[in-house]
Amino acid sequence: MNHPKRYLITAALPYANGLKHIGHLAGAYLPADTYVRYLKAQKRDVVFVCGSDEHGTAIPIQATKEGTTAQAIIDKYHPIIAQNFKDLGIAFDIYHRTSDPLHHETAQEFFTVLNNNADLEIKESEQYFDESANSFLADRYIKGTCPNCAYESAFGDQCERCGKSLSPDELINPVSTLSGNKPIKKATKHWYLPLDRHEDFLREWILKDHAADWRSTVLGQCKSWIDGGLQARAVTRDLDWGIKVPLAEADGKVLYVWFDAPIGYISATKQWAIENDKDWKPYWQSKDTKLVHFIGKDNIVFHCIIFPVMLKLHGDILPDNVPANEFMNLEGDKMSTSRNWKLEMQDYIDDFINKENGGPQLADALRYYLTQIAPETKDSEFTWKGFQDANNSELVNIFGNFINRALVLMHKLCKSKVPPLHVDLLDELDKATIAEISTATKKVESLLEQYKFRDALFEVINLARTGNQYMQKKEPWILAKQLDENGQITIEAQQQINNCLHICLQICANLAILVNPFLPFTATKICYLLKVVPKILEWENAGKLHLLRVGYTLRPPELLFRKIEDTEVAYQIEKLQKALETSKQESAAIPEIAAEKTIAPLKPEIVFDDFAKIDLRVGTIVSAEKVEKADKLLKLEVDLGFETRTIVSGIAMHFNPADIVGKQVSVVVNLAPRKMRGIESNGMILMAEDASGKLHFINIISDEE
Ligand code: 2FM
Ligand code: ZN
Repeated sequence: MNHPKRYLITAALPYANGLKHIGHLAGAYLPADTYVRYLKAQKRDVVFVCGSDEHGTAIPIQATKEGTTAQAIIDKYHPIIAQNFKDLGIAFDIYHRTSDPLHHETAQEFFTVLNNNADLEIKESEQYFDESANSFLADRYIKGTCPNCAYESAFGDQCERCGKSLSPDELINPVSTLSGNKPIKKATKHWYLPLDRHEDFLREWILKDHAADWRSTVLGQCKSWIDGGLQARAVTRDLDWGIKVPLAEADGKVLYVWFDAPIGYISATKQWAIENDKDWKPYWQSKDTKLVHFIGKDNIVFHCIIFPVMLKLHGDILPDNVPANEFMNLEGDKMSTSRNWKLEMQDYIDDFINKENGGPQLADALRYYLTQIAPETKDSEFTWKGFQDANNSELVNIFGNFINRALVLMHKLCKSKVPPLHVDLLDELDKATIAEISTATKKVESLLEQYKFRDALFEVINLARTGNQYMQKKEPWILAKQLDENGQITIEAQQQINNCLHICLQICANLAILVNPFLPFTATKICYLLKVVPKILEWENAGKLHLLRVGYTLRPPELLFRKIEDTEVAYQIEKLQKALETSKQESAAIPEIAAEKTIAPLKPEIVFDDFAKIDLRVGTIVSAEKVEKADKLLKLEVDLGFETRTIVSGIAMHFNPADIVGKQVSVVVNLAPRKMRGIESNGMILMAEDASGKLHFINIISDEE
């Protein structure tokens, strides 16, 4: 395979307005780090950049909440977030800041180039202005009544109660949050990036050139943006926190945060180059650089549409891929900072890594589980039980157990030395097991090159599983019972033992290499136990059988992982519930808080014939009851007129069983039966969700409202 000359890998710059949770970690930073560690093991030329996003209204808003200044907020959170990443083994080459003067200069230069080339449009529009504060109002600084749910304290960009995205003009009775006064409308001039001019380029570059190599979820979002009609986006704001627009006529205006933030990748690269005596330019301007952006799905439009247009206009390279992840939910609900339904990196570090029985092995335990459930193709779910299972049954029982047994047996049966391999005595099982090492290497490598981290990690664990099975079949502890007349193990048996343990130990060394991108602390620990230098972790060594020298003494075994106890799981779940309760009390002012919402991309078009396959009938709910141990499920009996069917429906959070008996509902009657919690469901009730997240039955005779 031909590899690019160099790589520039970015992970979304997190806002320095608060602590980040494991959803962020799993979405962007962990896969990026895994990929970079793999590339570095391949000795490829790679720079991994990230840093704090320190502009935008998110920062001053947090400052108001904490009763301090915007500068104090970024100075507080930037170092904590940077340290959290370090503790979890996320090894950026640079963790920069967008408040740095180098970034301000870089972003201003970028703007100037686009503006001088007439690639921006200037437009005047009427925007809300607070006369007493003498200030234009960012969307977040305007409150009013939500046109959708009538909540009276909706923000100008979103209603916190129903989740609907709003524009300030949609608010009824808008009020400035700066003074409490009614704002006036005042004309203001802004600079716009006319995305509409670039539709053909975007269609060709994304939907054609990358149709085969970008994730379908990413392509789907891009397509719906492009098909929805691209419009000019304002890249300046009337705000006093941000990067000054570098034009005399733009006094009091700053660059829009989403204009400056991605340029932060470039300024971070510049800073890295200064610190390492390198040239930053080839990383952004040379066609033989592969640029990859790791992000969560809420950042897709910025990294796939807006920033690429900016890069193209500025004369820089375009991303080769943007492997965006979907979201990771937590214990059945969407992770949300505002509702306190989250697991912060800091909390995990305090409760597991920095504990007496903690340490870096627990950073790897989290890395393992988050990769195993990575939301690569669809939203996924973190549960504490799932975390415990993944740790206890895979890391402890399969991976750790294999390495431990290999070392224990080597010390016991091979005089603590790497035994020789008697090639002429290898049997079919030995040979097949040896072959598995290089097969696994090739699979892991190919999956990593395709950003399929979950599958790649599965293959690594599978090699450990193969090792365990091999050892189990060979039973060196039984062979050790074949004694000669002097009570010594017979030569033949010892040779068999040697072969088995030689192969097992070489698998251990290979596992260190393969697991290193995912679980770097574990890889280092294995190197320590095998008394090899970390250089052995270079990828070119993977798949080889001669990594450990025969006759070499190895260290006594130590456990690689520890079990996660039931009490720890129970404690975390309780902690989560308590945090939710606290946040509910704090926000009692908001009658009902909807989860943070994002609009799902439209699904591909279907033809009438697809639709016509669905057999829809009207039925009446004759009974409804909760399904045991399933918070979300109701078991319904639905009378269709010609028969009564049992249907299990995921609506328990929305309806009281007693309230829906007698309701008429539309039913898909030709859906294949499906078992849920042991109950066979024969059909599906059609529901529609309104903008406030409330579910409604879709029925012919509307008796709902
Ligand atoms: O969504 C976010 O958290 C943004 N701060 C991501 C910015 S990514 C890049 F453009 F800098
Ligand atoms: Zn609302």
